[in-house]
Amino acid sequence: MNRRTFIKGAVVSSLAVGIAKPSGAASYYPNNVDQALFENINRVKDPAKKTPLEMSHAPHIVAPASVKAGVPFTVEVSVGERVHVMSPAHWIADIALYVANEPAGRVELQPKGLLEPKVQFNVTLPADAFVAGKVTLVATQHCNLHGYWESRRDIQLA
Ligand SMILES: [Fe+2]
Repeated sequence: MNRRTFIKGAVVSSLAVGIAKPSGAASYYPNNVDQALFENINRVKDPAKKTPLEMSHAPHIVAPASVKAGVPFTVEVSVGERVHVMSPAHWIADIALYVANEPAGRVELQPKGLLEPKVQFNVTLPADAFVAGKVTLVATQHCNLHGYWESRRDIQLA
């Protein structure tokens, strides 16, 4: 191989290496968890037969069955029915509440183990929030290892 051929090959090789995807940087999330959990919003598939993952991740909404328009009430959201762990390696980053499609509030949590993933929202619904006599509350949460989760609960207009 002469000098010119060697240099030409080295330049082409360098360009090929330069555009290659670096290994180990393909995913932000840890590789030892189910990557499918991060592709969509997760929900309980069969409420009669919840899996252990669903029991500890689907937001659990506690709210009155019916409320009066303009009268404050409390909505408690915990993650989940079996309260999720909070540790530096595995934690709930945030819990949010929506009134139908309208964002109502969001709480961010730190992975220091100081707080349980359980929050209370004080809610007052105007009469026009109800459609056909009901409104749907939507609670969401984000687990660093198990993705986004959502639960819903209907409230009737009293
Ligand atoms: Fe989790």
